[in-house]
Amino acid sequence: MFIVNHLLRSTLRSQSIAASRRASHKYIIMSSLYSTQAEDTGFKGHDMLAPFTTGWQCTNENPLVIERSEGSYVYDTNGRKYLDSLAGLWCTSLGGNEPRLVAAAIKQLNTLPFYHSYWNRTTRPALDLAKELLEMFTARKMGKVFFTNSGSEANDSQVKLVWYYNNALGRPKKKKFIARSKAFHGTTLIASSLTGITGGHQGFDIPAPFVLHTDCPHYWRYHLPGETEEEFSTRLAKRLEDLILKEGPETIAAFIAEPVMGAGGVILPPTTYFEKIQAVLNKYDILFVADEVICAFGRVGTMFGCDKYNIKPDLVSLAKALSSAYMPIGAVLLSPEISDVIHSQSNKLGSFSHGFTYSGHPTACAVALETLKIYKERNIVEQVNRISQRFQDGIKAFSDSPIIGEIRGTGLISGTDLVDNKSPNDPFPPEWGVGSYFVAECRKNGLVVRPGGDTITMAPPLIITPQEVDELISMYGKALKATEERVKELKAQR
Ligand SMILES: Cc1ncc(COP(=O)(O)O)c(C=O)c1O
Repeated sequence: MFIVNHLLRSTLRSQSIAASRRASHKYIIMSSLYSTQAEDTGFKGHDMLAPFTTGWQCTNENPLVIERSEGSYVYDTNGRKYLDSLAGLWCTSLGGNEPRLVAAAIKQLNTLPFYHSYWNRTTRPALDLAKELLEMFTARKMGKVFFTNSGSEANDSQVKLVWYYNNALGRPKKKKFIARSKAFHGTTLIASSLTGITGGHQGFDIPAPFVLHTDCPHYWRYHLPGETEEEFSTRLAKRLEDLILKEGPETIAAFIAEPVMGAGGVILPPTTYFEKIQAVLNKYDILFVADEVICAFGRVGTMFGCDKYNIKPDLVSLAKALSSAYMPIGAVLLSPEISDVIHSQSNKLGSFSHGFTYSGHPTACAVALETLKIYKERNIVEQVNRISQRFQDGIKAFSDSPIIGEIRGTGLISGTDLVDNKSPNDPFPPEWGVGSYFVAECRKNGLVVRPGGDTITMAPPLIITPQEVDELISMYGKALKATEERVKELKAQR
């Protein structure tokens, strides 16, 4: 039986390898050109269905296996050191080996590794963390905190909470969500519908029909000739209003936005954008959900993105740096008006029947509490503001490169668009793989950056030192030079 199963599995595996080889022939050529994989790690063709990874990569390439982290660096199984310019996935804000977070986890594991928060039973770390978050978030007064395990779960919960709220208010038709093109809100069923990066929809029967997408506010890419940033914001707010009127304001429940869009390419809101958007939402009684999963806890130079852009949200999603990623945890902050309605509706229905086994996991909460304590003690916002100029100026100094269209960023988050002729209308041919060449060159130089087509994004740990920033800039510069040469070669062959 074992042998039959084994044979079956290996036949299926070789069939799927053959299929994936056929399907992605041109990308295989690209990958072999640009691969920087080290010696055989022994994990080629591994058993994991890897997130955001293509089949051919799993079957044909050795994965980069990270074994250890220290400060702003990670180390692979071959002992190679990389400066982690993305803080894991925009999340290890306190770097790779903060002993206080490890100690907080161990202490909690030794006391009470787990207990739930159902049926009016809970734990002290969950209660303390909820209190702490309500005190920390000051863009407007919030009323309650609901715990999740991730940003996606937080955003999925947002939709359920808003529906529950509108049902309680007797507005059963007010259910649609408006998100933005190029937004990233996660990958669970509803969160990936909110996400406006279409690659995440393909093949999944997504987005759900109750989700609408409005314009991405990327000024450089989408402004009309002669249009100022402010005029661009006015036009986008008008287009949002037109969409609301077309659908019927009585059907639109909420608008969701990242203060600074992360995975969509680090897109900063243009001048007066959120002011104008909020005016439209207020006019039609539409809730504002702020997805702070990347922006919160100092990343953009204020404690929350809402502080920076004067956003007065009704609901907020948190995750990632909430625990500096040492434990999985997310949270939803609810305004007092919404939490009051939800409480009274639960009294009518007999329960607020939403939650996860691990909502308010005590070990995750204990680590998050310690993380927030460190942010306060070390004044993380000041720390980011001390270092961010060096980081932003250093990267933006490459703006004149003939293959760069725009470098943008704020605080410790940065995006670079690689294009031809410095124009958003002149992308490089996708088969040239310019972005992946740049990413591979960075890796050769000891720098990990976020791949994403020809848009390169970075968000280093908030504890990055000035010397490490200089090192990052130097490695980015070397990779850029090599990529400029590569583009010259490809153009000559054209
Ligand atoms: C803005 C934003 N929201 C939500 C998510 C989803 O978070 P998670 O991966 O923890 O589910 C992400 C992840 O990168 C994100 O960037």
